[in-house]
Amino acid sequence: MTEFAYRPVLTRVVVGVPDPDKTVAFLTDGFDFRVRTENGRIFADTLGDYGPNGQSALEIRKADSLQFLNVVFTLTEDFDADTLVKNLGGTRTETGGVQLVDPTGLRVAIEPAAEFIIDKPEVSAYRPRRLGHVNARTPDPVLSSEFYRHAFGMALSEQIGDDFFFLRTNTEHHNVGLRRAPRTDLHHLGFELAGWHAYQPILDHLDAAGYKAEYGPGKHRPGTSYFTYVRDPSSGLRFELFADMAHIRTGWETEPIRWQGGDRMTKTINIWGPTPPESFLE
Ligand SMILES: [Fe+2]
Repeated sequence: MTEFAYRPVLTRVVVGVPDPDKTVAFLTDGFDFRVRTENGRIFADTLGDYGPNGQSALEIRKADSLQFLNVVFTLTEDFDADTLVKNLGGTRTETGGVQLVDPTGLRVAIEPAAEFIIDKPEVSAYRPRRLGHVNARTPDPVLSSEFYRHAFGMALSEQIGDDFFFLRTNTEHHNVGLRRAPRTDLHHLGFELAGWHAYQPILDHLDAAGYKAEYGPGKHRPGTSYFTYVRDPSSGLRFELFADMAHIRTGWETEPIRWQGGDRMTKTINIWGPTPPESFLE
């Protein structure tokens, strides 16, 4: 396992979309993200982790179809990038970080946190607070989860059969979710809300802007978090609005919770009842 003084913090996801203007309209009209264009690059900002800085959580690029281009983690202290490259086969980035590719082809980077500091945007009742997790499709979630444990020092919090894995970089139940699928791809981005009460103004605001939830509100068993999933109609990019996710404060070596594969629909995906629509299961 890679040893870090602190573990990498999920900071940004880079996605390609077919019509960046339409996706930006969804992010601003639907969610009130602060969108900036800097040297031709489009960023969507939110408040981020508790502290003085905002979080530039999303970078939007033009692509032929929805693409999951990179997941950026940051470290706040100096780290030995050369040793990481040597051990994990990555390459150095222009910003002093390390670009890695996981065993199933997903690009993940570790960057110096100083490169990602931005001012906080204005507070908005319609905007999720922070990017909290990514949920990826992968043809080999067992292999992928081993990579994140080894390369990033993540801990396994929970798994469902050998098909779904939830890994954490801090006490939060998961910052990376992995699900078995035929190809490596993005399933959803998990953005945290301030709490249960925050759904009502956001979902009413989305409705007023013409956007509907795909699935939820509901409550997952893993992490015992509330959820609602909403998709950008122009790209298919899926956001999970989650709240009140469990924190695991019993130590890094806490034994993961393990479910049988057949438990997913009956016991884990929504303890309040309804199972997801077909679009969610693709
Ligand atoms: Fe999620």
